[in-house]
Amino acid sequence: MRLRNVKGAANVIEDSLYVIKNYEDYKGKYNMLFSNNNPIHIEIGMGKGDFIINMAKKYPKINFIGIEKFDSVLVRALEKIEEDIPNLRFIRMDATDIESVFDKEVSTIYLNFSDPWPKNRHEHRRLTSEKFLKRYDKLFIGDKNIIMKTDNRKLFEFSLISLTNYNYKIEEISLDLYNDDIKDNVATEYEKKFHEKGFPIYKIVVKK
Ligand SMILES: C[S@@+](CC[C@H](N)C(=O)[O-])C[C@H]1O[C@@H](n2cnc3c(N)ncnc32)[C@H](O)[C@@H]1O
Repeated sequence: MRLRNVKGAANVIEDSLYVIKNYEDYKGKYNMLFSNNNPIHIEIGMGKGDFIINMAKKYPKINFIGIEKFDSVLVRALEKIEEDIPNLRFIRMDATDIESVFDKEVSTIYLNFSDPWPKNRHEHRRLTSEKFLKRYDKLFIGDKNIIMKTDNRKLFEFSLISLTNYNYKIEEISLDLYNDDIKDNVATEYEKKFHEKGFPIYKIVVKK
């Protein structure tokens, strides 16, 4: 997802109190930023923010941080915030550098409709590749939880193998989320779009 040339996006991001700019200063001490010791959940590749905004409203005792690499996309999430959501923040960055941001403080990582990078030579860019799983190891405190949803069967199969090879245990799996139990499901923008088109949504919850 890339919206080119959203006029003024960089300024809106710079002025927003929801966007953490000096994120390296908070490494290992995000509890100070939120002024509490509640668990921290992050979404990598949050896009226009529907999921993370609604999760933060639904679970006020969890701190949520959304990571997005493009200004032009992140700015769309900022536009959706209508009321104060104290347990929500965003970081504009490429997740290849995620270890420079968090240190033993994240409980759960959400990977929703991540870019599939279908070419074999781009495998290392997939957010469930071993390269990324190694990076995530350093972020977690306690159990390592990853929750992934996608419409892309190939990415789903790749992720299942990658995660289990990396010793994650499957806690929950769905090959068609909307025909399974979705009572607590919070949909993402891509999820709504693909579900409306009739595509099955795959979901996996893993723990290590
Ligand atoms: C296909 S969209 C899905 C957006 C949203 N999660 C959803 O489900 O509607 C993938 C998003 O991940 C972002 N993204 C991809 N790779 C990323 C990375 N390495 N670091 C940060 N964001 C990334 C893209 O810019 C894009 O907004």
